[in-house]
Amino acid sequence: MTEWDTSCHYPRAGRVAVSRTTVGRVSTDRRTVVSVSGRVPLEGATRPYASRNPARLEEVVADVALAGPGTFVAAARVAREAQRAWADVPAPVRGSVVGNLGRLVAANAEALAALVTREIGKPLAEARGEVQEIVDTCDFFLGEGRRLYGQTVPSEMPDKQLFTFRVPVGVAAVVTAGNFPVAVPSWYLVPALLCGNAVVWKPAEYTAASAQALHELAVHAGVPEGVLCLVVADGPSTYGGLEQALDEGLVDKIGFTGSSEVGVRIGELAGRHLQSPCLELGGKNPMVVAPDAELDLAVEGALFSGFGTAGQRCTSLGTVIVHADVHDVFLERFATAVSTARVGDPTQDVLYGPLLDEKFATSYEKHLGTIASHHRVLGSTGTGRIGPGNPRQGFVGDPEAGLFYHPVVLDGVRPDDEVFRTETFGPIVGVTTYRDLEQAVELANAPGYGLSSSVYTTDPATAFRFRRGVSAGMVSVNNSTSGAEAHLPFGGNGRSGNGSRQSGIWVLDQFTRWQAMNWDYSGRLQKAQMDVATVEADLDHRLR
Ligand code: UN1
Repeated sequence: MTEWDTSCHYPRAGRVAVSRTTVGRVSTDRRTVVSVSGRVPLEGATRPYASRNPARLEEVVADVALAGPGTFVAAARVAREAQRAWADVPAPVRGSVVGNLGRLVAANAEALAALVTREIGKPLAEARGEVQEIVDTCDFFLGEGRRLYGQTVPSEMPDKQLFTFRVPVGVAAVVTAGNFPVAVPSWYLVPALLCGNAVVWKPAEYTAASAQALHELAVHAGVPEGVLCLVVADGPSTYGGLEQALDEGLVDKIGFTGSSEVGVRIGELAGRHLQSPCLELGGKNPMVVAPDAELDLAVEGALFSGFGTAGQRCTSLGTVIVHADVHDVFLERFATAVSTARVGDPTQDVLYGPLLDEKFATSYEKHLGTIASHHRVLGSTGTGRIGPGNPRQGFVGDPEAGLFYHPVVLDGVRPDDEVFRTETFGPIVGVTTYRDLEQAVELANAPGYGLSSSVYTTDPATAFRFRRGVSAGMVSVNNSTSGAEAHLPFGGNGRSGNGSRQSGIWVLDQFTRWQAMNWDYSGRLQKAQMDVATVEADLDHRLR
């Protein structure tokens, strides 16, 4: 068996709890997250940053030292060195490490979910679902370690055999968003590691503690140090480090989840190095409600996908495109459901909690500023930030403590409205109408994204026609735009991505390359195409 370093070194990103109290089931340890994990040398100065609980802004979840670009490059160098030995570990053994990670995540599920809730304000129930998504991903790839199939292919010549092998890409630089601070990273890390790659992982700064926890579990699962390097840095340092690492030939693949704007820059950078990145970008996900739809089901789906995670999922519902005949009744029921939904403290039973971070609150407020006189605003007792002067009826907890916003149902949106065309990443759902399915599909595709979509109908023809017409990578029928299962291809087209797919067997094409092998055992040079036996045929023959 290949020798490899199984010792589990604690990452240098150790935890230092300076205070501890308990709020419900969510502890309030204040953690310290250093710039980089493991044996990676720190290059250049660090910058202090505080990751705060967005539901209780005064609470610092982690004191973070952000790395500079040099440290990112150093991490890529360490990963490059570690990768070859990792690739030599048999895939089923790498699979067992992934299996260990799944077990460790399951055993630590409550603590990890509580940390996610504390750091990004996602309601506990959703955070638990997010943690389960890691376990599901590990379960899937545990088995893939025993497959990772190549093919045997017949040759056109005798005494010759053809084969295909999946080979690891090398070092993957994975840059992730913070709305799913542990599940979405696992969609990259787990298959990348299983396939024999090393990974440099750069999480969102405001999820540093959650990222550190997942990294810690990976190290304890048996991922050798250096094979998974966690680097905590801001956007400009990451971009600078990535650019340099690519120039030095240290990175072979980029995985990026985040905004379409940054995705474009990442795509350009990768293109300069003849690389095709795995991009999971924004969405303006449509939901078509046909006249024959079960309206209560559609309302439930719109509520969950429009306002779950405060509308900050890539798969969040953007616009409901409802048939004109059922518009009024749908709108009335939807607005009532939104008005009466529980919003507030994410440790309680609420539909949604705060926005993830100040920067999302700022950009969301800009979108609210585009609400115009032709719109009708429904769904709450106010708009904008919830507070004593702008209360939300039935709010759970103290609105002043965090980044809490009123939900908005915006009726009367038009295709040329900014709010129709742009991802808003906040608790706002537009509503517009259509007359025939062709128009509904046109409206669904109009913003130019193409991640998720949904149709509510009781007519199979409508469902299949919508599927065929819509440009999204994912289509739900009588289900919301959110809630993808961990083993179906996840990804988008247009402004949502470059067609790359995550999850299940499909992501293997992101983290492996096909190697073709031919083996001639005839003992002579047989030239392809030229030395191939020909068969006599009478192609002029016709039946009488
Ligand atoms: C994301 O928003 O980046 O389908 C991922 C869903 C989740 C994953 C969302 N399972 O909503």
